[in-house]
Amino acid sequence: MRIDIITCLPRLLDSFFAHSILQRAQTGGYVEVVVHDLRDYTADKHRRVDDYAFGGGAGMVMQIEPIARCIRALQADRTYDEVIYMTPDGERLNQQTTNSLSLRRNLIILCGHYKGVDERVRELFVTKEISIGDYVLSGGELAACVLADAIIRLLPGVLNDETSALTDSFQDNLLAPPVYTRPAEFEGHRVPAILLSGHEAKIDEWRHEQALERTRARRPDLLES
Ligand code: ADE
Repeated sequence: MRIDIITCLPRLLDSFFAHSILQRAQTGGYVEVVVHDLRDYTADKHRRVDDYAFGGGAGMVMQIEPIARCIRALQADRTYDEVIYMTPDGERLNQQTTNSLSLRRNLIILCGHYKGVDERVRELFVTKEISIGDYVLSGGELAACVLADAIIRLLPGVLNDETSALTDSFQDNLLAPPVYTRPAEFEGHRVPAILLSGHEAKIDEWRHEQALERTRARRPDLLES
């Protein structure tokens, strides 16, 4: 899989992808993440990528030309399955969307800034608009990192334990059950005895019950959907 991220703050993304699982996913050849500085695609001598909003009002708007130039340059080299715009008024991100995007080959993620992008970018280039929650960030970069992280960890081979992404919270619309590790007793607080029993079928059953109970208590909306 290849993920191209378009941003006017490329440095903000560099360190995020240079560590831990995301770095291993790239060096292991499971994903290629390429960050593009939108300012490299402007014809403006001051490398500006934004301008005042027509009609007035506070806040700058990202211009269409640099974005169009960047997207077209990428599309000239390969076909993209989606051009995703990170925006608080997009479709709310969930595990289903993440699962389905993890099956794609090439994705472009466009990070908004200021008051957002010129509406014609959305009409002409964007195929999917994603929000990571009902709050406004100062830019789409963090949201792009969240999306890319959620996708990349699902790619086969990226996690050490092949099954662990399948047992995450939200797969099957259930929250994950509680987990424990050594010591078996901490200051009188013991790990549930079933987990030490070695009885695999009973442990699976206990985990499923715990997942249901937790979901009922914390996120009943997931059980309704
Ligand atoms: N850009 C600013 N806020 C955002 C959000 N909540 N989700 C996605 N992109 C954003």
